[in-house]
Amino acid sequence: MFFIVLEGIDGAGKSTQAKLLAKWFNKRGYEVVLTKEPTDTAFGKLIRKLVLTGGKEGIIDGARISHEAEALLFAADRAEHVKKLIKPSLEAGKVVISDRYFYSSLAYQWARGLDLDWLIDLNRFAIRPHLTILLDLPVKESMKRINGRSIKTEFDKIAELQRKVRENYLTLAKRFEEVRIINALASVEDIHRDIVSLVEHELLNKGAMMSVSHAD
Ligand code: TYD
Repeated sequence: MFFIVLEGIDGAGKSTQAKLLAKWFNKRGYEVVLTKEPTDTAFGKLIRKLVLTGGKEGIIDGARISHEAEALLFAADRAEHVKKLIKPSLEAGKVVISDRYFYSSLAYQWARGLDLDWLIDLNRFAIRPHLTILLDLPVKESMKRINGRSIKTEFDKIAELQRKVRENYLTLAKRFEEVRIINALASVEDIHRDIVSLVEHELLNKGAMMSVSHAD
């Protein structure tokens, strides 16, 4: 039915907001599939093993494999995700909310020095969401929030990557018309309210208008 994606740098609050939005839809009688990338499948596990470092919540470090291989792994994980979960759920009339999607590959793997057009081509199979919410956060705040998750000696490297990734996301927001930017510095409640009003305005009201004009 609706496919909604949450994006943003590490620490922006995507998973908290994804859960709140899923509850909001549930309360209104929608069937919701709450999902994420990297996924929890064998592909996602391989990514965690080869690409991510840190504790439960991995931060990308890239010491172990080539950047191209990294991009291909994320794309393989996504291909399975689209085919096995996202498409069938949408076809079954469910609302799908994903914490990260192909924009993460564009923002992060582009920040690693790969070619943006190659990354866009590689991810062309990924169906476009109806709405993508970019939770935008200054890097200083992100680093405060993820400090506990990352290795101290990697701090500067990670901060530099986050800076590039944030910039990339803002550039991508201009290129992909489904992306809307929300200020992630606000309180959890305020951000949720902003997201809900976007959903109402961009999806529910438009959907209603579409069915009215269809009936005509
Ligand atoms: P994250 O959302 O932090 O997952 P979790 O909290 O479950 O560990 O994602 C892990 C990292 O992977 C994050 O730093 C962003 C990065 N990433 C990419 O570089 N490319 C991608 O395509 C995706 C989906 C994630």
